[in-house]
Amino acid sequence: MDQLVVVEHPLVRHKLAQCRQVETEAWHFRGLVEEITALLLYEAVRDFPMTDTELVTPVTAATVKMLSGSDPVFVAVLRAGLGMVPGALRLFPYARAGHIGLYRDHDTHVPIEYYCNLPPDIDDVDCFLLEPMLATGGSAAYAVNVLKRAGVQRIKVLSLIAAPEGINAIVKDHPDIKIYLASLDEKLNDKAYIVPGLGDAGDRLFGTA
Ligand code: URA
Repeated sequence: MDQLVVVEHPLVRHKLAQCRQVETEAWHFRGLVEEITALLLYEAVRDFPMTDTELVTPVTAATVKMLSGSDPVFVAVLRAGLGMVPGALRLFPYARAGHIGLYRDHDTHVPIEYYCNLPPDIDDVDCFLLEPMLATGGSAAYAVNVLKRAGVQRIKVLSLIAAPEGINAIVKDHPDIKIYLASLDEKLNDKAYIVPGLGDAGDRLFGTA
């Protein structure tokens, strides 16, 4: 499936393994998520345009390549997506960030939007949706719709771990977007947790369980 990029770099695998460990404390977990996000983003911007730029080094004048597009926008799905924002902004300090808040209706399990704050003029910028766990994929698919409704034309999803069900749901609704992952795990359990997964990413980040 060419929509899916699983970043199998040893550093990503090692840091994700540390995230999975039940003993890993929130302060450590947050640092690992930050680092993994930066490594995923490094892969996800490989196609960014570059332009020849004249500059002077301490040794000589030179023509070098520099990024030529506008800074990307990062959109975190609340609340666990917040943990990915620092790693993304570390690579692109001038980027803007938006937030989308969703919860699942208790009976219908349909995602309900309770918050949306996106930067202005984002139709012609690269937009990265930050959602660490693609379990059923319902929230991410909904959030991509929110971005499309706002006019965004170039969307990529960055995520730590997905279940096959989550990938299938996103790909079915959005065959036009790419998904960058640290791991495609085995399955969902009967509580919709990813197996083996890492538990509830929001709780692991913020120490709420
Ligand atoms: N959300 C999480 O944080 N973890 C899962 O395993 C599934 C959904």
